[in-house]
Amino acid sequence: MASERAVFARCLSLFVAFHSLYCGNAVNTTFGLGAMLSSLDNQKVFQSAVDKINANSSSLLRGAILNASSYVLNPNPIRSAMDVCEKLIANGVAVVIVSHPRDELSPPISVSYACSFYWIPVVGISSRETIFSDKSIHESFLRTVPPYSDQAYVWLGLLKKFSWSKVILLTSNDQDSRMIATKFTGLAEKNNIKIEKTVMFQTGCLNVTSQLAKLKKFQSRVILFSARFVP
Ligand SMILES: *[C@@H]1O[C@H](CO)[C@@H](O)[C@H](O)[C@H]1NC(C)=O
Ligand SMILES: *[C@@H]1O[C@H](CO)[C@@H](O)[C@H](O)[C@H]1NC(C)=O
Ligand SMILES: *[C@@H]1O[C@H](CO)[C@@H](O)[C@H](O)[C@H]1NC(C)=O
Ligand SMILES: *[C@@H]1O[C@H](CO)[C@@H](O)[C@H](O)[C@H]1NC(C)=O
Repeated sequence: MASERAVFARCLSLFVAFHSLYCGNAVNTTFGLGAMLSSLDNQKVFQSAVDKINANSSSLLRGAILNASSYVLNPNPIRSAMDVCEKLIANGVAVVIVSHPRDELSPPISVSYACSFYWIPVVGISSRETIFSDKSIHESFLRTVPPYSDQAYVWLGLLKKFSWSKVILLTSNDQDSRMIATKFTGLAEKNNIKIEKTVMFQTGCLNVTSQLAKLKKFQSRVILFSARFVP
């Protein structure tokens, strides 16, 4: 929470800095807004949303105007970082919005790295990976979707609903699943839910029959399962 507040504070001070640097005493302020999106269709949606906001800028943005430019995110992380630098940062954008490459859910880590180097806030609209919560690496990354690890709260809600108090955790050995397990373990302790056994299998394993067979000897009939899909 505290670090998120710090990022918000930094966004605000960045805006103020841009304002006084580039706009002087002008009545109308223009902010550069960049977006790396998954498709041409989404670029159109984005542009029409920006047009609507600009049309109503006196009430929504105190008269400020958004100068938006958007591009399709390249699946190659080096290419996408270069695109962000050449097409957005070089043109002085104040904020970058990022989703994911078309047909792929690979996280826009390189975009976040490139922007944090220039202290430009990045707003992720589809990245749910735990890694982005690490503010020592992704200093200026904010997101509008919860991290996968928040699934632990859903598990807890279901267990409480049915008054189930003993479970087995079966997860793959990737960062997100490990984080869900860690978060759930903390929640379970506080809510008197006993984790009878935790089993981790190799990420990418598609057949967990043998793991399930080993769980037969335990009492619990509730198995909480988390796995990362590796295409
Ligand atoms: C500010 O913007 C409004 C509407 O976009 C326009 O009518 C007005 O002339 C602009 N003022 C200045 C000083 O550019
Ligand atoms: C403009 O913003 C005001 C205040 O937020 C809102 O009431 C109004 O409906 C908006 N108009 C349009 C055309 O979006
Ligand atoms: C808007 O951005 C483009 C490049 O992204 C730049 O060429 C143009 O001068 C900007 N317009 C204003 C009014 O800032
Ligand atoms: C999964 O593994 C089990 C044994 O570990 C095997 O009997 C079964 O056929 C496998 N299923 C598939 C779909 O590969």
